[in-house]
Amino acid sequence: MKTVKETLLERVSCRRYEREPITTEQLEFIYEAIRNTPTSYNGQQFSVVDVDDQNIKLELEALIGQKQIKTCSHFMAFCMDFHKIKEGAKAKGIEMPHIYDTVDGVTLGIIDASTSMMSAIVAANALGLGCCPIGYARTRDQKEIARILRLPEHVMVVCGLAIGVPREHNDLKPKQPTDLMIFRNSYPQSGIAEQVIDYDAVVTRYNETRSGATTDNDWVAHIISYYQEAMKYQMLEALRERGFDCDH
Ligand SMILES: Cc1cc2nc3c(=O)[nH]c(=O)nc-3n(C[C@H](O)[C@H](O)[C@H](O)COP(=O)(O)O)c2cc1C
Repeated sequence: MKTVKETLLERVSCRRYEREPITTEQLEFIYEAIRNTPTSYNGQQFSVVDVDDQNIKLELEALIGQKQIKTCSHFMAFCMDFHKIKEGAKAKGIEMPHIYDTVDGVTLGIIDASTSMMSAIVAANALGLGCCPIGYARTRDQKEIARILRLPEHVMVVCGLAIGVPREHNDLKPKQPTDLMIFRNSYPQSGIAEQVIDYDAVVTRYNETRSGATTDNDWVAHIISYYQEAMKYQMLEALRERGFDCDH
């Protein structure tokens, strides 16, 4: 097992995996880490669908379009989930408020699913495994994803996570410097633009010189091009499709 420092500070996303499966012991540790995630109200408003069936992975890969889904050992779909508490309320004869129709309900579901995915990422990295979040699991046809994973109403995929034995070790990506990311006591009132431009130059240099495929991508324009693409996503529609009909 890696140290906490190695696990957190040497973590990189891994998109290429060996063919071998991860072991039962490794999987159990990842499951336990997921189970012990802190959640809003201790409501545990999330579930994970852990896919190791190659046919289901292939179906998901065809829909989501990320090859890691096919080549990883386990593809985990982290979902926000109000189905379980709704079932509990029904069984106990308690009226269930439509929390899933509020922005706050959706927010806490997304936080719980995301936090639990981070538990899995930390556990996988501590074990020396490789993993990569797959956000496209959120933005592709949710109706189709729900059909493949047989998700009930009020359950929606927030993010996927591909996990496997690593076949690559990418360079650490330069992140924003501490004083651009962590502000002591209050948000700075000036100097952000200059720091962002300095960071942009660091990323540009990194992209030109990193091992593997190099690019001339900067940071600001490159991220904004992702946002431009993301403007097309119809998440309100997707949420409604899954039973999250937010009215406030
Ligand atoms: C919510 C989320 C969604 C992501 N979606 C994808 C994805 O669909 N495909 C992919 O290759 N990487 C994806 N990533 C990985 C990011 O590209 C990666 O974390 C980022 O480039 C920083 O690199 P690092 O993880 O190696 O530090 C995602 C990461 C997060 C947190």
